[in-house]
Amino acid sequence: MSEHFFATAPRGLEALLAAELGALGAKDAAIVPGGVAFGGDWRACYAANLWSRLASRVLWRVAEFGYAGDEDLYEAARGVDWPRYFDVGRTLRVNVSATKSPLKSLDFATLRVKDAVCDRFRDATGRRPDVDRRRPDIRVHVFLEAARGALYLDTSGEPLFKRGWRSGAGEAPLRENLAAGLVMLSEWKFDEPLLDPMCGAGTILVEAAAMARGRAPGMNRSFGFEKLKAFDSPAWEKMKRESRNPSPPRALRLFGSDNDPRVLNDARRNIAEAGVDRWVKLERADVLERAAPAPAGVMIANPPYGERLGSKDALAEFYPKLGSALKRNFAGWRCHFFTADLRMPKLLRLQPARKTPLYNGALECRLYEFRMVAGSHRKP
Ligand SMILES: C[S@@+](CC[C@H](N)C(=O)[O-])C[C@H]1O[C@@H](n2cnc3c(N)ncnc32)[C@H](O)[C@@H]1O
Repeated sequence: MSEHFFATAPRGLEALLAAELGALGAKDAAIVPGGVAFGGDWRACYAANLWSRLASRVLWRVAEFGYAGDEDLYEAARGVDWPRYFDVGRTLRVNVSATKSPLKSLDFATLRVKDAVCDRFRDATGRRPDVDRRRPDIRVHVFLEAARGALYLDTSGEPLFKRGWRSGAGEAPLRENLAAGLVMLSEWKFDEPLLDPMCGAGTILVEAAAMARGRAPGMNRSFGFEKLKAFDSPAWEKMKRESRNPSPPRALRLFGSDNDPRVLNDARRNIAEAGVDRWVKLERADVLERAAPAPAGVMIANPPYGERLGSKDALAEFYPKLGSALKRNFAGWRCHFFTADLRMPKLLRLQPARKTPLYNGALECRLYEFRMVAGSHRKP
């Protein structure tokens, strides 16, 4: 039977996510800002959770409704047969998000939905599920627009960018699904050298290596759907068994460096934990001084960008030097920088071949691509 699902993702990655989900068996993928709605059976949902490198969560739609106020919301949530979907012994958390909603307080809306779910259980079973805001078994998501809303059960549980390999955080690490998106947007081919010269905790390198090896990102974690009554354990175990044969390792050439030895330790731990240390060479180096590890290749980096790390003034000094270093040392490379600092091309004194708008949470960012060609060293 076909169900309705919605996969959320960092904004800017929706089109890539729709293509990824299509390849995993999703039907009728429809892009909206922040995610992709799709249809499919439970296998498609399991596959999206196990294999999507871009999705943050996969949600299962259980109701749609029109509303004007909090009580309509209560009635809509009360109208759902929750005991059919999960056991009263499961713990619960409700999340409400809204765009253009007339409701005064989303906290109050959250409470009313929680009450509705609990009341429905009380009427059916005489008991109410407990709320656990930190580690709930069941997450109910409510999305509200101006006059319509939808209720979802979360099939992912912990967000999908938690792949189970991260122990070191470095400073300001990228989310794993955003890092995977940057690698996809760079159009890196697995046989090309890849360098992150400001690698921090190594997120981009781990995601690139996992992608090239064809390993399922969700192999080592559990999922929200395992707590739902609809869970088909034999089908899920079979899917996992069939996913256990990563494609034979290719001759990968991945390189990472950072000038901070402490974050390099985090990178080393993460890369080992993810089981890709054989393919990644790490070293301590300043991006302004290091040489290219090959005559041509793909650079992907997420420099400090003055929001969380480094001041705007320091970056205004750093970027022209980085531009010169790229021209001097990286002729033949396609260099990609993910940043919220939109002054970057100007300060690098380089013309981007491509710029892709992306969001890191609420922060508007760009992925800039600079094609460094031999002899492109212009005078400042
Ligand atoms: C925003 S963080 C990168 C986070 C990384 N993408 C991750 O997911 O963990 C920026 C990194 O650039 C490094 N960095 C800053 N200036 C550098 C330089 N001149 N040479 C090399 N690395 C530098 C910092 O040490 C920091 O780890």
